Amino acid sequence: VGSEMCIRDSVMSRKIAIFDTTLRDGEQSPGASMNAQEKLVITRQLLRLNVDVIEAGFPVSSPGDFKSVQDIAITCGDQCIVAGLTRAVEHDIDVCAEALEVAARPRIHTGIGVSPEHLCYKFKGMSLDEAIDQGAAAVRHARKFVDDVEFYAEDAGRAPYEDLARMLEAVIKAGATVVNIPDTTGFSVPWEFGQRIRYLMEHVNGIEDVCVSVHCHNDLGMATALSLAGVMNGATQVECTINGLGERAGNTAMEEVVMAIKMHEDELDAHTDINTTEFAHTSRLVSSITGINVQPNKAVVGANAFAHSSGIHQDGVIKNRTTYEIIAPEDVGVSGSQIVLTARSGHAALRKRLEDLGYASIPDDKFEQVHAAFLELADSKKEVYDEDLHSLMGEQDRNENAIYRLDAVQISCGQPLVSTATVTITDEAGEVHTACEIGSGPIDAMYSAINKIVQAENDLMEYSVKAVTRGIDALGEVTVRIMDHDGAIFIGRGSDRDITVSSGKAYVNALNRMIDQQRRNAQRAESGSDAPAHI
Ligand code: KIV
Ligand code: ZN
Repeated sequence: VGSEMCIRDSVMSRKIAIFDTTLRDGEQSPGASMNAQEKLVITRQLLRLNVDVIEAGFPVSSPGDFKSVQDIAITCGDQCIVAGLTRAVEHDIDVCAEALEVAARPRIHTGIGVSPEHLCYKFKGMSLDEAIDQGAAAVRHARKFVDDVEFYAEDAGRAPYEDLARMLEAVIKAGATVVNIPDTTGFSVPWEFGQRIRYLMEHVNGIEDVCVSVHCHNDLGMATALSLAGVMNGATQVECTINGLGERAGNTAMEEVVMAIKMHEDELDAHTDINTTEFAHTSRLVSSITGINVQPNKAVVGANAFAHSSGIHQDGVIKNRTTYEIIAPEDVGVSGSQIVLTARSGHAALRKRLEDLGYASIPDDKFEQVHAAFLELADSKKEVYDEDLHSLMGEQDRNENAIYRLDAVQISCGQPLVSTATVTITDEAGEVHTACEIGSGPIDAMYSAINKIVQAENDLMEYSVKAVTRGIDALGEVTVRIMDHDGAIFIGRGSDRDITVSSGKAYVNALNRMIDQQRRNAQRAESGSDAPAHI
């Protein structure tokens, strides 16, 4: 009974379904918008992780999102459920159902607000009864198209228990197979959120026949703890994102909640089917595609997560790893070995190392490009580390389907010279443009020259550079953050041996993202849709 994902095996512990929303809620992180190709790269990696559900997008928001949900559904085949988000509005549901027609295992995720704050302000004084009726009607409508319908009671974390229970009971009666209890604003504390889930388990008729999902935000830094409290008290699905991306302070980080369930399987009587050895690679991939760095002290996937600095700790780990390490690095895909490639490493060695790092089945034509870039790097740098390979692969991904591509940069600068930059850029139609500008420094001159060609108005908000590995010959990785005239933020990244080139690549990458989003907004306006970009 209920969603196919939540059936309990009588011998094993409870299966907790992992619902990934990196491509929907995660994309709502400022600056994290992804193009259709990037979403497919992440989809393939989520399949390697073996997630149970992928929330692919909000199809009514734009024709681009609609198409992207279709492409993701086709890519997933029958490997996982593909969910599309809607408001509790018939038109949203019709459009979502149409996008999911190609899905082998479609799910419509619909819902409406339940808290006094949402009813009063967002829904302009709608009564609870009206919201319940609208929610139940939406579920009934969605069930005409698909057998699997998830209902979210938005801002459930701040709703009175009885109101929430009434809404859930009504939508279950209307045919919901999954009920999602989001702490939309990240307001809750774990003990109370757990108690809320327990109350619902005990007071909502029919809840035992459906899957109970939790979707927690990290505004107080407790999203993972909230999700675990939900699991402890009866939830059998957790909604989460890679690296904890998401609206404002983000969502529950998948790598954290899955490893916590794994470490505490007995107390929780729960397990997931996630292939945890893919975490490190997935984290890097998502960071590289979105341009959002992972803080070094981030649990499970941060650069320092397995670094022991104190002498006493180092001594303890040498005696026995478990003295200071609760997770074996290899369990989350962090390899202890430092394999260094050189220009003499052949095709096979490079392919093998890339596969070990998670870049499986690179098509031959793409591999040739990667190999050429690798040789160029190895010639100048002599030793190529894993981090260099991640950076190189990130650069390849960013170049694929780019609107503008930076082909050449020439800079003259120094004291007392006037900084001058000449750049050559190829546009998506294959036309080559060259421009030259002066500036207060080399980056200013280069960005002015790029602006002369691309002509996309923006403000540069942030510019930072870091070395990818140790050593004076390390690759330099630049991250920039730009804002368009509507106040939307876009992040760009670029890496190269020459940091002026990395700077140019990063800026062009940010401009590509901004233009892609502006095109999607224009498509939305043209299609006459009054739907917002996000919920
Ligand atoms: O945070 C939230 O409530 C959401 C819903 C749309 C599920 O993201
Ligand atoms: Zn959310």
